[in-house]
Amino acid sequence: MSQIWLIVPAAGQGRRMGADKPKQYLTLADERPVLAHTLARLHHAFPSARLVLCLDADDRWFLPHWVPFTDWQRVVGGSERMDSVLNALHAMAADDDDVVLVHDVARPCITVSDLLALYQAAATHTAGALLAMPVADTMKRADEQCQSARTEPREGLWHALTPQGFRYALLRRALETARQQKTLVTDEASAVEALGECPQLVTGRRDNLKITHPDDLALAAAIMAAQAANTPGRL
Ligand code: C5P
Repeated sequence: MSQIWLIVPAAGQGRRMGADKPKQYLTLADERPVLAHTLARLHHAFPSARLVLCLDADDRWFLPHWVPFTDWQRVVGGSERMDSVLNALHAMAADDDDVVLVHDVARPCITVSDLLALYQAAATHTAGALLAMPVADTMKRADEQCQSARTEPREGLWHALTPQGFRYALLRRALETARQQKTLVTDEASAVEALGECPQLVTGRRDNLKITHPDDLALAAAIMAAQAANTPGRL
């Protein structure tokens, strides 16, 4: 295995949570914060990876003992998620061919099996890969009054999850191009697609929840308890 890099954007404010601190610092099972759980799972899958953690310049909550990696660096986040990831890409001393996985700090229920599957796909496909889930629900298009104006075909639609993984040179070129063109991308795959490349969709687990709303904290704790009960000793 060549060098694996992990970028964890954790510089968001998580305002939709309405909490007194960013969501990555709210506590989950065993009183550890979301951030510590996410990093522990990444470390379990990739113990010798190099971590680049994007934190807000004014972060008052971060504690280094939550980082289980021996080789890691902290970078200052940007105003948007893509700026945080670009700051990480500019700060790290990676080779062009190194595989870089980007994982939201707000997804602490990620499993080792999904992480390893995604890494394999990212290392194999030249356009990279992302964890994703086929859309299961009927999709509605709302009008301005929040009325259901029509039904969108769901065939071929997927939810994009993280991690998303790419070779360093491709990811950097994609995000730099998006910034130059003033395109706001909310995931890395969008920037790569804009270059005309088609990242591989890797079916991920449905329980890879992104903590966004207040109810999600209890849901994440329940998911983790179920995962621990179903696969004792494994994440
Ligand atoms: O807000 P949302 O959940 O979409 O953010 C996705 C991820 O991007 C989170 O892990 C968040 O901390 C991170 N982020 C960041 N820098 C920003 C905005 C979001 O690192 N400026």
